[in-house]
Amino acid sequence: MKKFVAAATVLTCIGFVSTAEEAMNLPVSFNADGTVNRPLNHRQWVNVGTTLIPKGEINIIDDLPIPTSEYIDTYVEPMAFAIYMATGTWPNGTQIVKEFTATKPADAGEVLTESHYNGLAMLVKDAQRFPAETGHLGYFNFGHHSEPYETASKVLPREQCSACHEALASEQQYIFADHHIGLKRKQK
Ligand code: HEC
Repeated sequence: MKKFVAAATVLTCIGFVSTAEEAMNLPVSFNADGTVNRPLNHRQWVNVGTTLIPKGEINIIDDLPIPTSEYIDTYVEPMAFAIYMATGTWPNGTQIVKEFTATKPADAGEVLTESHYNGLAMLVKDAQRFPAETGHLGYFNFGHHSEPYETASKVLPREQCSACHEALASEQQYIFADHHIGLKRKQK
């Protein structure tokens, strides 16, 4: 592991960072203990799409069935969004969150209205901090419940998050761009 870190550091210093987008480090707020701080302005990031999860499905954070249907909004930090849309590569420092929103109970045919924000999960791409992790991605969660959310999160175990992204999105840099309408890139 130490060797890995050293190798990655050296590679980073001597030209591993070859393209402009890889050289650009976006600011992510980590603490000395390795936890990441919850971004405070994620609803001002780029909302790249919404998914509806039907009542009773299992939530990925707490592994429990959801008591009401939930919307999931995915937000991408704007600089990472701009670089991805221009180049097709997620830059170092990319931050993406998904926020869950609970809904009011509705009968068939009724509009499904949001009731309250109900949880936040995040991924961060950071080659320096996650040299050995697949895609250099760290996965975090700030709780699956109504606000206030947790203010910081430690990195989650591979089995809980990364394994699924590795299995299902290996051809997309482990980020499910094809699920988000706002991440469709024009073919050049
Ligand atoms: C069973 C598979 C699976 C597991 C486990 C899983 N995810 Fe995902 N994740 C997905 C899928 C599919 C999407 C895209 C659709 C969506 O937004 O739900 C996604 C999307 C995301 C996104 C938005 C960026 C993207 O890749 O589309 C984030 C952030 C995220 N997941 C974080 C997490 C975190 C944190 C965990 C662990 C707590 C986790 N995921 C566990 C399947 C999974």
